[in-house]
Amino acid sequence: MTDAAFTPRVFSGIQPSGGLTLGNYLGALKRFVEMQDAGTFECVYCMVDLHAITVWQDPEELRKNTREAAAAFIAAGIDPARSILFNQSQAPEHAQLAWIFNTVARMGWMGRMTQWKDKAGKNSENASLGLFAYPALMAADILAYHATHVPVGEDQKQHLELTRDIAAKFNHDYDVDFFPITEPVIEGPATRVMSLRDGTKKMSKSDPSDMSRINLTDDADTISKKFKKARTDPEPLPETYAELKDRPEARNLVDIFAALSGVSTDAVMAEHGGAGWGQFKPRLAEVAVEKMAPMTDEMNRLMADPGEIDRILGEGAGRAREIAAPILAKTYDIVGLIASK
Ligand code: AMP
Ligand code: TRP
Repeated sequence: MTDAAFTPRVFSGIQPSGGLTLGNYLGALKRFVEMQDAGTFECVYCMVDLHAITVWQDPEELRKNTREAAAAFIAAGIDPARSILFNQSQAPEHAQLAWIFNTVARMGWMGRMTQWKDKAGKNSENASLGLFAYPALMAADILAYHATHVPVGEDQKQHLELTRDIAAKFNHDYDVDFFPITEPVIEGPATRVMSLRDGTKKMSKSDPSDMSRINLTDDADTISKKFKKARTDPEPLPETYAELKDRPEARNLVDIFAALSGVSTDAVMAEHGGAGWGQFKPRLAEVAVEKMAPMTDEMNRLMADPGEIDRILGEGAGRAREIAAPILAKTYDIVGLIASK
C-alpha cells in the first residue's frame, strides 16, 4: 500500500501546560487554520492533556488551560464544525494505542530525544516514566487517525521522525502496510519564534520570564511594552535579511513582523532596512496588536462560557473516536489481541 491509499488527513496537537504564546500561534495555530481552509484535508486538532501531565500540572490550572487553548484554536479560525477539535483524554484510543507503541519503540530511541534530555536534564532518575514515553503517545495521537500530514514548529521535527520509525517498525514486524509514514509540515517564516529576552532560546509558555513571550491573552499595552523592551543589539536594521545571520534577536523581530503581516522577510527589509529600533519596535507592536486584539477579544468571549467549550470538546471527541476506534481495533487484531465481537 502506498501513502496515496490513505485519506489526506491532518493531525496536530498542543499541550495545555500553560497559556499559549505567539510562538504557538505563528508556528502552529496559523498553519492549522490554513490547512483547514485549504479544503483538501480532514483536520483533527487536539489539546494533548495527557502529554501535559508528564510534568506536574495543577489540576484546576490544567482544566482552565485546556479550555483556553480550545478557545484560542477557535479564535484563530478553527471551525469546530469543519475540523475536529477535542482534548486527548476524552478519546481513550490514544492511550491504548500508545501502549502498543511502547512495545514497538526502543529505549535507545527515546533516550536520544532532545526534548527528553532538555526536560529531564541531569535529574533524569527523578523524571516521570510518562515523560520518557512521551513520543510513543505522540505517535499514537497521529497514527490512531492514519494522519498523513502533521503541521508543527521546528522543535517537533525529531518527534515526527520517531513517529515514522514506529510506523515503519510496526509495519515491518507484523508484515503489514497498516500505518502511513506521516509527512511533517514545517513551513512559513516563523517555525521557530525565539524568546524576546534571549535570541538563542525558543519562545515558550514555560519560560520563567513573562517578558520573554507574548501570550495570546496579553492586552495591547502589554504587547507594546514587551516588544519595546525586547532585547536587541544596538545596531539599526541592515538593508538585507542575509546580514541578520549573526544577530538572532534582530532576526527574530523581523521574522515575527513578516509572519504577522503576511509578507516575506525580504519585503520587511525593503521597507524597514536602515531603521533604528526606536522606529521599528513601535511599528512591530502596532502590527501585533492589530492582528492579535480581535483574537484575544474572541478568546475572552468564548472563555466566558466554559460549558459551551466543553460541549464542543465532547462533540469533537465523539467524532474523533469514530475514526480512531476502528483503527485501534484493527491494530489489536494485527497484534493478536482477542477483542470482543
Ligand atoms: P507546545 O506548546 O510545546 O505544545 O507546542 C505546540 C505547537 O506549537 C508545536 O507544533 C510547536 O512546534 C509549536 N511551537 C511552540 N513554541 C513555538 C515557537 N517558539 N516557535 C514556533 N513554533 C512553536
Ligand atoms: N509534542 C508536541 C509539542 O510539544 C505536542 C503534540 C502531542 C503533538 N501530540 C502531537 C504535535 C501530535 C503534533 C502531533 O509541541
